[in-house]
Amino acid sequence: MSKIQAAITAVGGYVPEKILSNKDLEKMVDTTDEWIQSRTGIKERHILEDGRATSDMAVKAINELLKKRGIGAEEIDIVICATITGDLIFPATANIVCDKIGAKNAWGFDLAAACSGFLFGLETGSKFIESGKYKKVIVIGGDKMSAILDYTDRNTCIIFGDGAGAVLLEPNEEGYGVCDSILRTDGSGREFLHQKAGGSLKPPTIETINAREHYVYQEGKTVFKFAVTNMAEVSREIVDRNGLKPDDVDYLVAHQANKRIIDATADRLEIGSDKVLMNIQRYGNTTNGTLPLLLWDFEKQLKKGDNLILSTFGGGFTWGAIYLKWAYNS
Ligand code: UT7
Repeated sequence: MSKIQAAITAVGGYVPEKILSNKDLEKMVDTTDEWIQSRTGIKERHILEDGRATSDMAVKAINELLKKRGIGAEEIDIVICATITGDLIFPATANIVCDKIGAKNAWGFDLAAACSGFLFGLETGSKFIESGKYKKVIVIGGDKMSAILDYTDRNTCIIFGDGAGAVLLEPNEEGYGVCDSILRTDGSGREFLHQKAGGSLKPPTIETINAREHYVYQEGKTVFKFAVTNMAEVSREIVDRNGLKPDDVDYLVAHQANKRIIDATADRLEIGSDKVLMNIQRYGNTTNGTLPLLLWDFEKQLKKGDNLILSTFGGGFTWGAIYLKWAYNS
């Protein structure tokens, strides 16, 4: 019997209607459209309205995915939700999503690996499929970053946006799907990108709120340095060890944190910009949302048999790459 691989068989996505442009941010912090575009590649990002949460975006993405695949929510076995902005501290947002979509036969859990969460979730979901026990696994990547951003801090508020995407994984025995992965974590990098308060180390108090410690803290320059090196290296490593030449790589699907980091990764792979999927200009960095939102945006362009290199770097530090053979024409 041939080997079971986990293939992506449908994609869904959602970004909120409200747009926060660089021009809007010029009125909020000391920045310029020119600085943001030249240093990051971002023009605008989408912001979810108050009173709505990460699960609401995920539900929209999943409902689209189920419709495309022509299946009902009760057929889903597992829901993995990669997020750092779950609706509540507990229970898991995956549980809330299952309830909202009516996935009565599923179990699920959240996965926290900052910007690498979706990639780690894809690997995790793949293993459930490869086991042969589970036939339909949904992996969500989504964040309401606006919930944890300090809109007086120009170092962070210009970068991030809100959005969510989801993919359906199903067994494939013809060689399509997740072919290889290299995933890494280095917790010593936590000091450079984190949220100071709200966890068990520093529960919320009036002091933590007044000190603005419930927002994203990032030492951008240091994170940039590690991101450029590690994302490029791991992408190159997975390409080389699978015997792929630059011509064999059809698309780089890279975490959308900064256009300069993505360009450096493409250079390391020796591939042209026509092979680099990019939507950072419209969404900014949606953290767990970037990779599935790329697949969603460019789904029509992807052809059965295309070789995709998914690659990411995020807080933790966490990073990695997955080699995926695309399984369908849409
Ligand atoms: O997704 C998770 C992983 N995260 C990342 O991969 C993000 C990695 N980091 C980055 O993308 C970049 O470091 C940033 C976009 C965050 C910052 O860009 P940079 O080129 O590293 O800028 P910098 O922090 O080195 O600052 C350069 C200058 C400074 O001014 P001086 O000291 O040269 O006078 C900053 O004060 O730019 C200034 N600056 C700004 N100016 C206008 C910093 N932020 C802004 C701003 N608008 N928003």
